Amino acid sequence: MAQGKGFGKTILFGEHFVVYGMPAVASAIGDYTLAEVEPSKKTEIIDNRPATEGYKETKREEMQREFGALFRFFGVKPEKNPLKITLSGNLFCTSGVGASAALAVSISRALNDMLGLGMDDEKINNAAYAAEEAGSGKPSGIDNTCSTYGGLLWFAKGLGGRPNTMKRLSIRKPVEIVLGNTGITQETKVVVDDVAAWGKESPDEFRQILDDYAETASKGKQAMQSFDMRKVGLLMDRNQELLRRVGVSCNEIENIIGIAKDNGAAGAKLTGTGRGGYVICLTPGEGLQGKVAKAIEAAGFGTLKTTIG
Ligand code: PMV
Repeated sequence: MAQGKGFGKTILFGEHFVVYGMPAVASAIGDYTLAEVEPSKKTEIIDNRPATEGYKETKREEMQREFGALFRFFGVKPEKNPLKITLSGNLFCTSGVGASAALAVSISRALNDMLGLGMDDEKINNAAYAAEEAGSGKPSGIDNTCSTYGGLLWFAKGLGGRPNTMKRLSIRKPVEIVLGNTGITQETKVVVDDVAAWGKESPDEFRQILDDYAETASKGKQAMQSFDMRKVGLLMDRNQELLRRVGVSCNEIENIIGIAKDNGAAGAKLTGTGRGGYVICLTPGEGLQGKVAKAIEAAGFGTLKTTIG
């Protein structure tokens, strides 16, 4: 049976601002979606991925558009040649962890395997981007890029048809993080559109926020490379303040951030779409990671302990 994996991701710096050409720092995480594809008598999709309640219902139409785009990209006609697609893996699907990109990459790799196309990562990334585009409008491409290549990346979307820029960042050793799950699913496109509408209403303030963000991201990248996690944390807090101002935070996110900071996290911010989804808490060292995860869980939120870099 043909199969493929796509990794989840977390954004350290830059969600939303990346849509406007600002650079972002993101990392793949070890958790992945696995797709298995085989010819069958009828086309069926069996979705065994673990997910937040309501996630699959909220994302149903987005997912159907992703599938349609992937079938077109690979020239597959399931009405003529039915396929059974089984989805599993340990990536817990909710907003903010790149679950739709992980899905697109896993299926692209599985179809590539089934059809014996020998595609390289660049082509897989293009296929996954086509799916993401059909699913959620105008994605920056950061999710599928992390999911395809893995590791820690500096990424900037090329505006006006220019190519994206991507640079791999290496750090001394992986750093522990806790992802705190608000349990709320949001449609990325809706929140991205709201930010665009706000930006049109308050152009001067938005420009200032983008400028502040550009400085924060550049210092964040430097701090990451010199392995100064205290500084990275402070800059993540600064990034969160800018995200609050464009209206993408919510009470549950702020609650998790408060708990993480009270328990010693170096920094904490929303990651991904916002208004729900995950909060990324920077917790260098397994001791701190365990302490912060326990405190977040005690408040009734799910957590995922993983590393970046
Ligand atoms: O919620 P996620 O993991 O799909 O991340 C969305 C990130 C945004 O910057 C809000 C949108 C994008 O296309 O980059």
